[in-house]
Amino acid sequence: MNMKNYYVTTPIYYVNDVPHIGHAYTTIVADALARYHSLRNEDVFFSVGVDENSQKNVQAMTKVGETDLGAYLDRMSKVWKKTWDDLSITYDRFIRTTSPEHHVAVERFWNAVKKSGDIYEGTYEGLYCVGCESFKTESEIVDGKCTLHPNADLQEIKEKNYFFRASAYRDELLKLIDEQPNFVQPESRRNEVRNYIKDHFEDFSISREAKNLEAGIPVPGDPEQRIYVWFDALINYLTVVGYGTDDEEFTKRWPADIHIVGKDIIKFHCALWPAMLMSAAKNDELLQNEKGEALLPKSIFAHGFFTIEGQKISKSLGNAIDPTILTPKYGLDALRYFLLREIAFGEDGDFSIERLEERYKHDLANTLGNLLNRAIAMSRKYFNGKVPPSISHEAKYTFSDEKGLETLRKAVEQHVAENRFDLALDTLWNGVDKQFGLIQANKFIEDTQPFRLIKEDPDATGVILYSLLEYCRVFAWLLHPVMPNITLRIVGQLGQDPDTEEAKGVEDLLTWGSLKPGTELPEPEILFERLP
Ligand code: MSP
Repeated sequence: MNMKNYYVTTPIYYVNDVPHIGHAYTTIVADALARYHSLRNEDVFFSVGVDENSQKNVQAMTKVGETDLGAYLDRMSKVWKKTWDDLSITYDRFIRTTSPEHHVAVERFWNAVKKSGDIYEGTYEGLYCVGCESFKTESEIVDGKCTLHPNADLQEIKEKNYFFRASAYRDELLKLIDEQPNFVQPESRRNEVRNYIKDHFEDFSISREAKNLEAGIPVPGDPEQRIYVWFDALINYLTVVGYGTDDEEFTKRWPADIHIVGKDIIKFHCALWPAMLMSAAKNDELLQNEKGEALLPKSIFAHGFFTIEGQKISKSLGNAIDPTILTPKYGLDALRYFLLREIAFGEDGDFSIERLEERYKHDLANTLGNLLNRAIAMSRKYFNGKVPPSISHEAKYTFSDEKGLETLRKAVEQHVAENRFDLALDTLWNGVDKQFGLIQANKFIEDTQPFRLIKEDPDATGVILYSLLEYCRVFAWLLHPVMPNITLRIVGQLGQDPDTEEAKGVEDLLTWGSLKPGTELPEPEILFERLP
């Protein structure tokens, strides 16, 4: 059987600083998508990495008094990689843009664009912002400063550059945006990108004079020039799946299903990047489909930005939370749950410890933890430490069944297909039309009172408890991509071996009735410890 492929990427981050909660957010969303698709038996490739050929990195190195750029990049790349490892991010490859294979890929790409006649020499005169790593237009400058980086001075630059004939692709790009509604998501960003392409998308300077820079890949055939960092960085999405080094792997993986990015870098991803690919594809078969058209990423999703307790995350405010600091206290899964649930994906949002603790106590400890604990404790007590028999009985004694599961599953899958984990989680907790959610499962215990019913009708009590335990099992698998560790522990508490179960694939796992009556239930453990 041919497995479906799924290729998801995160931006490659500058290593001028350590990761903060905003970077972790992007990476955790991509990780949840990767896990979701793996559980559905797809052949997933998930890439992360670092953007190393940037002047920002050089400036940061100088600030800390170091002079060996190679050593600085090695050290900082390790910090980023370790953060993703500590957060159990299931990436397949961590790419560094100083790696030899990336240079091979960039050279190949440059040459293809050149062959298409889209690179020409010119002189650039203008203001450059190292913070953005881009030239600024008049509308982006206020009082002589970049609007995004008002604390840094703009550099006045007049030098020979190579230019990319981006404007030649304006019409093709507009057609792409109009014909493929999913190319840029969410919808509000699509309009923003469309207006940018229509009104502001001009030829790009794609090199700088080497004598003015310490970082950057040399222009093929002209060592006096180095390639503009964004031009090289975007190509990482090709390098990481074998462009220029492994044709078979590349053909299998490219194009990406989704690039997850922050709203700050949408223009580069939704305008410059497809234009670059359209140009290079004309002279590189690897980048073409059977019809000879450019293979472009299928979608780009731009999420919003975090503030911390209402304030912009910034070095000078010293409020950049290191995500690994939070995990010992709340646990990795609770952090993932909070990040994905709290913010409507695509919108801006605020990170606050108070909200995190509220959700931890209410959604996790009281609602999820409590349901599982009560269902297991009562089953153990009344049914000899085992999963009770599931005999047919009046509907009022079952919380859910095949139909209920189908309704819940469809709603969750629909939200994830639209990359809306926030809505998927809301559905899991609050139900579909106020049915089949965790909240209702807890209420079902109050309504049916199995702790009283056991005296008069043990059979009915068994049915109630069986349907709750089975509900917890299915629930765990629907939640698994977001809370990978806790959900395996839930499965373990239901007396199943999590690893054997996980290997079964989603169709088996999401079949109602898989939990065998008579299975031994171990002593329930607390999933969410009380916060100090
Ligand atoms: N190196 C470029 C990306 C090149 S991709 C070919 C870059 N790097 S960055 O280190 O500045 O990281 C930018 C990304 O970090 C944003 O697009 C976003 O995904 C994430 N975030 C940075 N700050 C953030 C918040 N305050 N909130 C949410 N995400 C944030 O740009």
